[in-house]
Amino acid sequence: MADSSRPPYLVTRKLPIPCMDRLHEGFDVTLYGGPGAMPRDELLREIQGKVGAVTLLTDRIDDEFLNAAGPQLMIVANYAVGFDNIDLPACTFHGVLASNTPGVLTETTADTAWSLLMAAARRVPEGDRFLRARSGWVWDPLMMLGQDVHGRTLGLVGFGRIGQAMARRARGFGMKVVYHDVFRPPKDVEEQFDAEYRELDDLLAEADFVSMHTNLTDETRHLIDAERLRKMKPTAVLVNTSRGPVIDEAALAAALKAGEIFAAGLDVFEREPEVHPDLLELDNVVIIPHLGSATVDTRIAMGMLAADNLVAALEGRKPPTVLNPEVWDEGRARAARS
Ligand code: DGY
Repeated sequence: MADSSRPPYLVTRKLPIPCMDRLHEGFDVTLYGGPGAMPRDELLREIQGKVGAVTLLTDRIDDEFLNAAGPQLMIVANYAVGFDNIDLPACTFHGVLASNTPGVLTETTADTAWSLLMAAARRVPEGDRFLRARSGWVWDPLMMLGQDVHGRTLGLVGFGRIGQAMARRARGFGMKVVYHDVFRPPKDVEEQFDAEYRELDDLLAEADFVSMHTNLTDETRHLIDAERLRKMKPTAVLVNTSRGPVIDEAALAAALKAGEIFAAGLDVFEREPEVHPDLLELDNVVIIPHLGSATVDTRIAMGMLAADNLVAALEGRKPPTVLNPEVWDEGRARAARS
């Protein structure tokens, strides 16, 4: 039953208990309890009249959503660091704040990328499948040979927080680190991580392991396509924990099948939750269902940060990790004028 004294907002999927407890404090919450992602028609219906929403990467926040919500909507607090599901210019146009959850999932996502890198290089899931199939075997010098990780070259495509966390891990494995990013950090950052800048094609030709850490934008969609895959070494491993569409999945499946690269480790997919059927048939790809940030502590930390953003906006404070601060500044200027 709606309580008119408590600002109403929508949470599009159940979050860990401590986050839900926090979100229930002082507000009137409409929660979509699942199963799966909130259906679009229900999302558009339920957002009507709400002052805020905690959304997921499976919810598309666009003009249609913002129009359906109505002019009282103040904030969309995304439960993810990635925000390619949000049309940020549209939010800004509608005067709606948008926020994400940076920082709290950096190390966990780098751990996941590292585990995919190791698993793909050393054929861990393939060995596991082999034994579970009750296949007969004796120890063999030529059995399931993988690629060394230690001492090799790690190529990071994207050198933000998670890319840098990967560089730190690489040091423990005695690896050389090269990176590519459109925003080149200051020299002291390169020195801190002992990482050298490369043009993308040079990085692909040099690296033994290529790990993707870019945002999904028009510029990064299919950044790794058939042509770029051909620039990689036949012994190379490609890892993606960013967003699926940065890699042309059909081209990757073909490259893996043809042995153009050694293996891949994928947490994200081009048409999530669908996985390209050819990938499902291949032994040299390790696939997990978008688990990059999926630890108990990190998923709680993400929810707490999303709640901080939502509550701040509803209480008239600047959300700590707002993506379009100009909306906040404009609101303040308007309030000062009136
Ligand atoms: C993100 O935060 O963008 C991840 O993909 C989910 O944790």
